[in-house]
Amino acid sequence: MEIKYITKPLSEIEAELELVLVVEKNFEHPFVKDYKKTLEVLGFSGNQDETALLIESKKLFVGCDSLKGKDIRSAIASAIRSILDKDIASVKLATYTNYDKCTASIKALAEGLALGSYSFTIYKSQPKEPKLQTIYISNESYNDKNIEESKIKDAITRALNIAQAVNFVRDIVNTPPDDFYPKIMAKTAKDLAKENNLECEILKEEEIKEEGMNALLAVARASRHEPRVIHLSYKPKNPKAVVSIIGKGLTYDSGGLSLKPSNFMLTMKLDKSGGAAVLGILQAVSALGLDIEVHGFIGAVENMIGGNAYKPDDVLTAKNGKTIEVKNTDAEGRLVLADVLCYAQEKVKADVIIDIATLTGACVVGLGEYTFGVMGKNEDLIDKMLHAANISAGEDAAYLPMNRHLKKGLKSTIADISNVSSSRYGGAITAAMFLEEFIEEENKDKWLHLDIAGPAFNDSAWGENPAGGSGVPVRSVISFLQKLQDNKH
Ligand code: BES
Ligand code: ZN
Ligand code: ZN
Repeated sequence: MEIKYITKPLSEIEAELELVLVVEKNFEHPFVKDYKKTLEVLGFSGNQDETALLIESKKLFVGCDSLKGKDIRSAIASAIRSILDKDIASVKLATYTNYDKCTASIKALAEGLALGSYSFTIYKSQPKEPKLQTIYISNESYNDKNIEESKIKDAITRALNIAQAVNFVRDIVNTPPDDFYPKIMAKTAKDLAKENNLECEILKEEEIKEEGMNALLAVARASRHEPRVIHLSYKPKNPKAVVSIIGKGLTYDSGGLSLKPSNFMLTMKLDKSGGAAVLGILQAVSALGLDIEVHGFIGAVENMIGGNAYKPDDVLTAKNGKTIEVKNTDAEGRLVLADVLCYAQEKVKADVIIDIATLTGACVVGLGEYTFGVMGKNEDLIDKMLHAANISAGEDAAYLPMNRHLKKGLKSTIADISNVSSSRYGGAITAAMFLEEFIEEENKDKWLHLDIAGPAFNDSAWGENPAGGSGVPVRSVISFLQKLQDNKH
């Protein structure tokens, strides 16, 4: 599917359908006015993401609450998704923006087009050929705002690079666990490195042993798939900052001996979403040519059961020498991350360290399934991440505050720390506090933890997110890195 910007009015562009945004329920706008009656008859009220297809008139209307990027992206993606199964090959639309100089809504518009046209069909025995071939963005503006052409083109290119990375992550997350296991994660990383001029180092089991990553190895033990630790790096010439990003890459989480009930196990192919996001972020930073040195680390592991499985009651020694009493083998992500965090800090002296993980069901209980949790010790970094997510990228994020009193739940009578809290409350935060034990003192205020257990995977589509893998939080982290770069110029 191709997205083209054309400097011609809508009337001069040939397409099978015109996509029209009904902004702020304004049915009097020249784009909408003539169809007001018909839309009324159809019961279309212009609510955000609501669509109405008038096939005879060759129009597709979609409600959009405002000209903010977040609303535009969501409306456009919903509209495109609604016609993916229809026999429509080409679509055109105007440019929509709220300010004369602001390309944020143009970027959101292009992201909406590319994210909304995503589909995952390779597992269908008879996949339907995608019908939609071309989308034309006209320079005709919804409200006569004029933005320089070069700026519009640049915004569209950036948007398409980011959306491509998001869709790449969605493909990885959606791939079934028997086809995407740690070795495949490593191969995907190697291929990505080749295509994008990245450095790539893969640790196999032997090397992981030599590194003393015993917590990760214990989680991996019962699987027929050997674990991998992946290190990708993007090194521009004059980086403004160095950032390490660490992803939980559980290619499957059965829970281990603390086995998940079947209805909770279903969809646990999603547990590689943090690692997949790391791959997507590296793809995007290199496509965008950001002036930030970015290191991606992934602990790629499968958590299974078997005679050699690690057990509740085991005590593991992590890479940094700390001992961990295993009380629940389903709290495996933090064990994997503990070792990979240690490894990442030893390998790279970074200015910012971000880990991304589908870490706790508690985070989903607390924030709902649409919002990811942001935790850490540095309020400034937390604010920047929240702003990057909620304002710039249009992904929903919320802060979960650490509380020192919660820490005592992680006490162990026989080891340094236990892998789950004794309290049934505050599970997302106690998981973060567990991870903090593996962040070196001098790095504590450089660290952010993103718990994406809620929005990483969707039962059904919403906004710009399809059913299945969402690609969260690639857009947020890219916005965060972009700001980091711009502020250091
Ligand atoms: N991968 C899960 C967390 C998860 C749950 C992700 C739901 C996405 C959706 C994680 O490994 C896990 O099982 N966590 C346990 C921790 C508990 C044993 C302390 C959980 O949240 O139940
Ligand atoms: Zn688990
Ligand atoms: Zn897990």
